[in-house]
Amino acid sequence: MALRFICSLLFVVLLIVSLGGVESKAHHREKRRVLFVFGDSYADTGNFRKSVSPSWKQPYGITFPGKPAGRFSDGRVLTDFLAKFLGVRSPIPYTWRKINPSLQRYGVNFAIGGTGVFTTLNAMANMTVQIDSFERLLRQGVICQNDLDRSVALVSLAGNDYSAYLERNGSAEGLQPFIIAVVKQLSLNLQRLQGLGVKKIAVTTMEPLGCLPSSTQVLSYKQCNETQNAATSFHNLLLEQEVQNLNKEANNSSNIVIFDLFNSFNSVLKTPSGQGKFVDSLRPCCDGFTVTDRCGSIDKSGRATYNICSNPETTFFWDSVHPTQSAWAAIVSYLRPSVEALAS
Ligand SMILES: *[C@@H]1O[C@H](CO)[C@@H](O)[C@H](O)[C@H]1NC(C)=O
Ligand SMILES: *[C@@H]1O[C@H](CO)[C@@H](O)[C@H](O)[C@H]1NC(C)=O
Ligand SMILES: *[C@@H]1O[C@H](CO)[C@@H](O)[C@H](O)[C@H]1NC(C)=O
Ligand SMILES: *[C@@H]1O[C@H](CO)[C@@H](O)[C@H](O)[C@H]1NC(C)=O
Ligand SMILES: *[C@@H]1O[C@H](CO)[C@@H](O)[C@H](O)[C@H]1NC(C)=O
Repeated sequence: MALRFICSLLFVVLLIVSLGGVESKAHHREKRRVLFVFGDSYADTGNFRKSVSPSWKQPYGITFPGKPAGRFSDGRVLTDFLAKFLGVRSPIPYTWRKINPSLQRYGVNFAIGGTGVFTTLNAMANMTVQIDSFERLLRQGVICQNDLDRSVALVSLAGNDYSAYLERNGSAEGLQPFIIAVVKQLSLNLQRLQGLGVKKIAVTTMEPLGCLPSSTQVLSYKQCNETQNAATSFHNLLLEQEVQNLNKEANNSSNIVIFDLFNSFNSVLKTPSGQGKFVDSLRPCCDGFTVTDRCGSIDKSGRATYNICSNPETTFFWDSVHPTQSAWAAIVSYLRPSVEALAS
């Protein structure tokens, strides 16, 4: 009852506010989408702890907003481009919600860099815990039914479960069962979001892991590791089957849409050099001096131990795993039919 009261009160306040505006504005407000985001660094816009994250250090954010701001790129990431397409503001990171609590009604970003469906090495909120936070906001009435009815979720899973598996020295034979377990857990998470009343969900396929600079560095950024890409394809195949089944069970309402990062990355990366926008496309813009240095790292005297390319605009990868803002723009334009299906 109390929760409903808070929601109703907010509604009345909004009504008064919108009555003060023009009619068409109120109408627009009615149709406004509300975006909730779950997952990892491909979608995080500032949740990763500021004291430890490279995303809050130079040179992250040099293109947008011009200084480090918690995004794992030189600028905007997937979340920002999706929000722009939907015509809503990029949702406030969950960590920063107390700064302006009312912004939560426009959506919340729960994604945290380095996380997966299972607990990874950084031990921050896995996707289950992120959805727990979302559920709490629903129960507390911070997010209302009215918001939920217009809700869209973005779910990003770019592979941290697998890097954790490798770093924990998981066996080659164990990988296939592990991939099955990851996709099963991801599917449970999607079903949970559906059960909580989210209307439409976009879930990413995994980008070609073997083409990330972290994998291609040993090959001088000249070719992808096809063994790793094959494992990625297996993950994606299982995911696509799961999504098909979930949509069937939901009476073919197709309320889950796939954002195919695998093919969108590949379409750019496999464009012959010189024919596309991106130059030397496997080489990251921001790269450590040595294999142990990373983008953003400094030595004891505070000097940067990384180089930055002259033009992030024509470079696909920002650092060892993340695309540049310019690459995200290209990816989202490739994803346009899926983005439109999500927005419809
Ligand atoms: C997610 O993290 C919580 C808290 O650490 C843990 O209890 C839970 O088992 C994790 N979920 C999965 C699916 O690994
Ligand atoms: C994995 O193996 C390496 C090399 O054998 C070892 O140094 C490291 O401690 C192992 N890591 C774990 C989590 O067992
Ligand atoms: C490709 O990836 C596999 C699996 O991680 C690894 O064993 C292999 O050494 C890699 N190949 C190259 C050329 O790096
Ligand atoms: C799908 O339709 C069937 C038959 O009309 C109905 O019994 C079932 O509850 C529906 N399922 C969902 C998820 O809406
Ligand atoms: C979903 O569509 C398929 C193919 O058109 C059809 O065979 C199936 O009965 C539909 N499922 C439901 C639950 O409506």
